[in-house]
Amino acid sequence: MNYILSPSILAADFARLGEETEAVAKAGASWLHLDVMDGAFVPSLSFGMPVLASLRKKSSLFFDTHLMIEDPDRYLEAFAKAGADLITVHAEAVTHLDRTVRAVKNLGLKAGVALNPATPLSVLDWILPELDLVLLMTVNPGFGGQSYIPYCDEKIRAMRKRITELGLSADIEVDGGVNLKNVGRILDAGANVIVAGSAVFGSDSGKQAGAFMKILRERDKEL
Ligand code: DX5
Ligand code: ZN
Repeated sequence: MNYILSPSILAADFARLGEETEAVAKAGASWLHLDVMDGAFVPSLSFGMPVLASLRKKSSLFFDTHLMIEDPDRYLEAFAKAGADLITVHAEAVTHLDRTVRAVKNLGLKAGVALNPATPLSVLDWILPELDLVLLMTVNPGFGGQSYIPYCDEKIRAMRKRITELGLSADIEVDGGVNLKNVGRILDAGANVIVAGSAVFGSDSGKQAGAFMKILRERDKEL
C-alpha cells in the first residue's frame, strides 16, 4: 500500500497559495487536496476552477479534487480542464452515481466517491470495483478545523476489510480533523491517504507536512 499525504489548501493563506503549495511539495507531499464548496451541499463557499488552473501552472502535484457541490456533473469537464487529476464526488450530492463515476473516468481522470460520516458504506456496494478512491469524511463537510468524529475509526476498518476481501485496490482517504496525534490510529484503522488542513497550514506548513511525511514513510517501510 502506498501512504500519501494530501494537504488541504482550505486552511492555507490564500494570498500565498503558490508558496504554500511549494512548501508542502518540498516537504514530500505528492498530492494536494482541493476542497470545492458551493454554499448549497455544504454551508460554506470556497473556490473553483480558476484557483485550480492557476495552481496547475505552478505545481506538478497530483490534484485531489474534493467536490462538495450539488449535481457535480455540471462541472466535471471544467475541473478536468482546470487540471484535476482525481475528482471525488459526494454520494449524497449525486442522483446517478454510476453515471457520474463513468463521466469522470471518461474524462481520463481517477474517480473517487466521498461519504459523509453518517452515510453507510453499503451505498458503495455495487460501484466499489469501479472506484480509484473512497473518501471517508470524518467530520461533517463544510469547514476546516473541526474535531474528528470517533466512531469513524470503525467505519474506516470496515471499509478496509471490504476492499481487502474483494481483492480491490481502491485507496481509502480520510478527511477531517486529522492531526499528528490521531493519524497513527487512523492509519492503523486502514486509511492510506491522509488529508490534513489546519494541522498542516495552521503554522509552518513545510515543517508540519514534513512531520506527517515522516510518519507515512515509516508505514511504507513496514510493508
Ligand atoms: C472539510 C474539508 C476538509 C478540510 C479538512 O469539509 O473537506 O478537506 O479542509 O480540514 P481539517 O484538516 O482542518 O479538518
Ligand atoms: Zn476535503
